[in-house]
Amino acid sequence: MSFSDVIIIGSGVAALQLARNLRSEINVRIITKSHVRNGNSYLAQGGVAAALGEKDSPYQHYVDTIKAGRYHNDQEAVFKMTSEAPKLIQNLYASGCSFDKNERAELLLGMEGAHSEKRIVHGGGDATGSRIIDFLLSQLKKNVSITENVFVYDLLIDKQSKRCIGVKGKDKHGNIEYFYADRVVIATGGCGQLYSFTSNAETVTGDGLALAYRAGAELVDMEFVQFHPTLLFKDGKTRGLISEAVRGEGARLVTKDGIPFMDDVHPLKDLAPRHVVSQTIYDYLKKGEQIFLDIRMISHFRSRFPTITSLCERNGVSIEDGLLPVAPGSHFLMGGIKSDLYGRTSVNGLYAIGEAACTGIHGANRLASNSLLEGLVYGERLARLLNSDKSAKINSQLIPREFKSNFAPGLNLPQIQEMQTRMMDNAGIVRTKETLSEQKRWLESFDVHNWSYANLDKLPPEEIMKVFMLITSWLITDSALKRTESRGGHFRSDYPYEDDLTWKGIQIIQRRIWEEDEKDEPIKTAVAT
Ligand code: SIN
Repeated sequence: MSFSDVIIIGSGVAALQLARNLRSEINVRIITKSHVRNGNSYLAQGGVAAALGEKDSPYQHYVDTIKAGRYHNDQEAVFKMTSEAPKLIQNLYASGCSFDKNERAELLLGMEGAHSEKRIVHGGGDATGSRIIDFLLSQLKKNVSITENVFVYDLLIDKQSKRCIGVKGKDKHGNIEYFYADRVVIATGGCGQLYSFTSNAETVTGDGLALAYRAGAELVDMEFVQFHPTLLFKDGKTRGLISEAVRGEGARLVTKDGIPFMDDVHPLKDLAPRHVVSQTIYDYLKKGEQIFLDIRMISHFRSRFPTITSLCERNGVSIEDGLLPVAPGSHFLMGGIKSDLYGRTSVNGLYAIGEAACTGIHGANRLASNSLLEGLVYGERLARLLNSDKSAKINSQLIPREFKSNFAPGLNLPQIQEMQTRMMDNAGIVRTKETLSEQKRWLESFDVHNWSYANLDKLPPEEIMKVFMLITSWLITDSALKRTESRGGHFRSDYPYEDDLTWKGIQIIQRRIWEEDEKDEPIKTAVAT
């Protein structure tokens, strides 16, 4: 058993930015199920968007963001973020974060799809995520301790006040440990691994979303999943991201006969919004035709894109031939744990930042390079809140409520690969009532509702992860079935248009009701401070 002021679950950009900015008297524990450099943030090739150019403005960045988000965004949240971005990036740069510069030692600004100005800051060409993470790690002070290889599998919720007072974690051997804290922050990222084709790290399995749902927090917009059009595709499997910056430098999507095909699809051609490009490529793949990214016109590809070069070489794809086989795959979850401008959720004492959170910033579709930015902005903002917050500390009277101990679902859980393939086919890039209903029925055949209430203490971490994938898949599927229109990342071929009359500004909120198992006698665990 241990006690901290703040527990942060996860170790990506949002988590580390928060930890770095908390006052040195605040005792912080970061808990990660793997190790600190193993996550989506570290893999991020794209950059950070900020209106730093002479002709650019936060307002223009805001306009691009809500256009990409198909006007489903929280406009106040977006404008605040785009306004804070330039200073935040300048400060990081001034503090030593090594972003790429031009010959005048100014920040080098790149272009990406759906941005109307050059405003993307990169580090190491296509290694921005690792540059930022290494910098943030180097800035952590003694008040921050990092616990690696512990899988947080439950939030501790005080029985009386329903306040979050800590977490339960399991180590690799299945030993259970209780970690108590005044504040608990979920910064576990999204859920890309729910799909068979994904750009996401292996660790990104929707844990934080399922944790929050099981604890009774509100989730929102879960149907909005972004599929990135260009993942390297070899031997029937996606192998990692080929950044949109490659198309920003002039690369073209072509058929096996070398014919570019995006010109007739959208005025922005190869740099059309991601859902449009993904759906087009997906149509070709469904017909059995492989699509390629033609990079032959890009000079100095190796030095401009070292991470992508090494990804291709590791997978036996030649850069010199200049035709990279690609397929779309899940990339980013716009929805998540409903949280406000400071990361506060609907559960007291529980916060969510980064991709696990839904602040309304991204609307129905995220603008490229706004995700590292979101993590940096919200990490800093939540730190400001907690630094000035002198309210409630947990006390010795609190008793965490435990999940139903008398429910022991059989270990009838699906194979991960089957779950991923079915999500891709039925709740992926193109959805219909039939595919979503079939997927919902299939997920429910594994007792998904009971798993939302079950006591997981006796399960090994790898089985709990499956339970979390099952719950998060169900949340996406259920939400996608309810939204009878297409908007941003959510495309229904049976409702192929945006339906502003019925759906504009409408959010689908999901919450598990605690009261349903109120009659169960909780296991009592005393907490001391
Ligand atoms: C990319 O570089 O294409 C991905 C970056 C992002 O999704 O923001």
